[in-house]
Amino acid sequence: MTLSLDFTNMMAGALPDGAGITPAQWDAAAAPFATAHAAVHARVHDLGFLSLPTNEPLLEQSLRVAEHARGRFTDVLLLGIGGSALGPIALRNALCPPQWNMLDTQARGGHPRLHVLDNVDPGTIAALLARLDLARTLVLVVSKSGGTVETMAQYLIVREALARVRGEKGAREHLVFITDPVVGALRRIAKAEGVTTVDIPANVGGRFSVLSPVGILPAALLGIDVRALLAGAAHVMQGAASSALADNLPGAFAVLQHLADTQHGRHVQVLMPYADPLRDLALWFVQLWAESLGKRRPDGMHVGPTPLPAVGATDQHSQVQLFMEGPRDKTVTFLAVRGREQEGRIPARHGDIAELGYLGGHTLGELIAIEQRATAGALAARGRLNATLTIDAIDAWHLGALVQTFALATAYAGVLYGVDAFDQPGVELGKQFAYAMLGRAGSEQARAEWDALPAPDPRWRIG
Ligand code: PA5
Repeated sequence: MTLSLDFTNMMAGALPDGAGITPAQWDAAAAPFATAHAAVHARVHDLGFLSLPTNEPLLEQSLRVAEHARGRFTDVLLLGIGGSALGPIALRNALCPPQWNMLDTQARGGHPRLHVLDNVDPGTIAALLARLDLARTLVLVVSKSGGTVETMAQYLIVREALARVRGEKGAREHLVFITDPVVGALRRIAKAEGVTTVDIPANVGGRFSVLSPVGILPAALLGIDVRALLAGAAHVMQGAASSALADNLPGAFAVLQHLADTQHGRHVQVLMPYADPLRDLALWFVQLWAESLGKRRPDGMHVGPTPLPAVGATDQHSQVQLFMEGPRDKTVTFLAVRGREQEGRIPARHGDIAELGYLGGHTLGELIAIEQRATAGALAARGRLNATLTIDAIDAWHLGALVQTFALATAYAGVLYGVDAFDQPGVELGKQFAYAMLGRAGSEQARAEWDALPAPDPRWRIG
């Protein structure tokens, strides 16, 4: 069980035209990284994600609820958004067999389907509610703050639908709130009505919460080995005890991306798994990296890399053209999976046709691995910075390790960029404007600011 990072193609020497991080830059980054490392690990009490891998009492909360639910539900419906939804989606799609929700009960080992509503598109919600058997559905309402507008709107709609099917009292038996232990509207409702709750520790923020009950409870309901998930993450924490870059993989990732952005103009940072089950992990990473690092620094500077998801080999026929010949403003981190060479034998046929003949006897596993290496080499040959993060298997242990690697890397990168990786003040104004338009109490000032914005100018409108 390993996780390895090969960053040869990020470094000068491997790349033509003087591109790449120089050994001197890398050596000079050791001291700022040691400072970042000390700053992050000194906050072990207020950065709760650092101890999620070994938080046994919290794990027990999820396991108890999962045990109680076992065999009672055919479907789980998760309501949430942002960090409260992307992690559970990534875990389901990486760790459950493909097309999980389409499989029959036996193929799912008796575990429920998992549906995640992470938006307020009325069509999506109506379509899902129309086909769900709510009498056999467990609803997880996931919100750290316990009051996010989108999640609350989803909850109101789903709660009413549940009450129609099961009555007001029965509806409560279908609800679990995953939320802050003390504050927030969900907590208040739970207390008043006796709804089952599971805690998101007060010191764990949304996008850092996948290894809290936010990800662990849905994973446990789906039969995923949650102890292995946490063990993979704990393994990463052990390696990260070292402040030496050569030993600290998340640190190396953070430093490489930071140097590439700030000293080499590589502002766009692509995460490109070569495996369908890891597509949604790239989307989860995008939120983590963007919402944590895209900030206005205290000195007024606007900083932060722009993360971009891609998937191989699919995007070789799409974005890779841009990565190869577009602006030299990107890094690409490939996520590769070892040991799939025996999977998906390609039959030998049309041996006399050049375009097909050579494929017979190879496998799809071999093809996808070779294409990843070929793309990495091609990018390097054109001076495009790239690195490869390799795991031994797509399993719970490696997913836990990947999640903790990126979470830690984000925390280190926050210090390197000089920003608070754990807040998101930039999303506040839009929220306040929406509250103002919806008439939420206390939003009068936002209403005044909204009303003072320039009206649409007919000169700049078509249609
Ligand atoms: O990462 C974050 O903090 C955000 O993306 C939140 O997860 C998102 O806004 C949802 O917040 P909450 O869990 O409070 O409903």
